[in-house]
Amino acid sequence: MTSFYPALRPLLFQLDAETAHAITLQALRAVQHTPALLRLLTRLFAFEDARLHSEVCGLHFRNPVGIAAGYDKNAVCVPGLAALGAGHVEVGTLTPLAQSGNARPRVFRLAQDAALINRLGFPNAGVAAALPRLAALRARGRPVPLGINIGKGRNTSLDNALADYSTLLQQVHPFADYIAINISSPNTPGLRELQGGSALAPLLGALQQLRQQHCPRLPLFVKVAPDLSPAQLDELLDAVLAADIAGVIATNTTTTRPALRSPNASAEGGLSGVPLQAAANAVIRHIRKQSGNKLAIIGVGGIDSAAAALEALRAGANLLQLYTGLVYQGPGLLQAIHSGLAQLLAQRGARSLAELVAA
Ligand SMILES: Cc1cc2nc3c(=O)[nH]c(=O)nc-3n(C[C@H](O)[C@H](O)[C@H](O)COP(=O)(O)O)c2cc1C
Repeated sequence: MTSFYPALRPLLFQLDAETAHAITLQALRAVQHTPALLRLLTRLFAFEDARLHSEVCGLHFRNPVGIAAGYDKNAVCVPGLAALGAGHVEVGTLTPLAQSGNARPRVFRLAQDAALINRLGFPNAGVAAALPRLAALRARGRPVPLGINIGKGRNTSLDNALADYSTLLQQVHPFADYIAINISSPNTPGLRELQGGSALAPLLGALQQLRQQHCPRLPLFVKVAPDLSPAQLDELLDAVLAADIAGVIATNTTTTRPALRSPNASAEGGLSGVPLQAAANAVIRHIRKQSGNKLAIIGVGGIDSAAAALEALRAGANLLQLYTGLVYQGPGLLQAIHSGLAQLLAQRGARSLAELVAA
């Protein structure tokens, strides 16, 4: 069900990337508020194959690929995104207070590279605005597992970051199936410093303690950058494992610039999409090698096909996410990847993704 997107894409691409995204979200929101349309969307885009089901951190996923953080920052479109075939949705990044982010334009298409560069800086309506929607999702029953991605406010000093993450965890935990602790976005000054040095272990230790008090069954994930050296990544993993964190989301966008062909290649911000794929997979592979089966890994970065999904799974991911692929390939992408994975399973006679990965 991808046939209409090639016609729509040139129109959307005439608009500023952020405006096009806002229109897309509005349209999805309108559809999701009309039950008959939501059912139609589900009929058109859903994909079901029991061999793609999996259990990760005690949660049941009907499909491996979900929506990465940033797509639905304010948690307005979870049912619509689930209807498009997402196996899970991660909303956010939510910050304690509403904030407007950096000056526009701040999202750039790199069409020849199937990539984006963004320097949004966590524009969002703040956690309080999202809570009623999160509560409504809980009351109605979440259509798919819901991750809530939390981040420190732009004006919060690094020394006070723990207070932001603690407040956020305490506010959102009743509404989440997992929490993503975002310490890796490149567009909030200093944020990435929380990934190392003396900052990380106390931060994760304190959040783990809060979890044990308030929500002991809720898995915590740490979202990491693709730009850490192997030694920095090992240091991060030591802290993650010592704090008994359930998993890692690998990776956020990169501030490096692999060879790119698009005119926007030198825009400042985090690069996502196909040129990120190799670096994200290298991080996934490293984490899996170093942590064995002690960590769940959600792989994200440039996944735009069943082959790319399989590669990230082979690198060691348990689940996958995407964002940029949707911009270039449209809403049929999740179905295309899931049906492509099912075909690969059939060809190789595998009964589960784990068997396919092992094959
Ligand atoms: C426009 C845009 C906004 C994003 N916002 C967030 C965010 O708020 N929080 C976050 O953790 N990651 C954010 N990301 C990163 C994505 O979640 C993902 O890690 C990254 O884009 C790599 O996946 P992709 O190549 O499939 O896009 C954003 C990415 C894009 C393109």
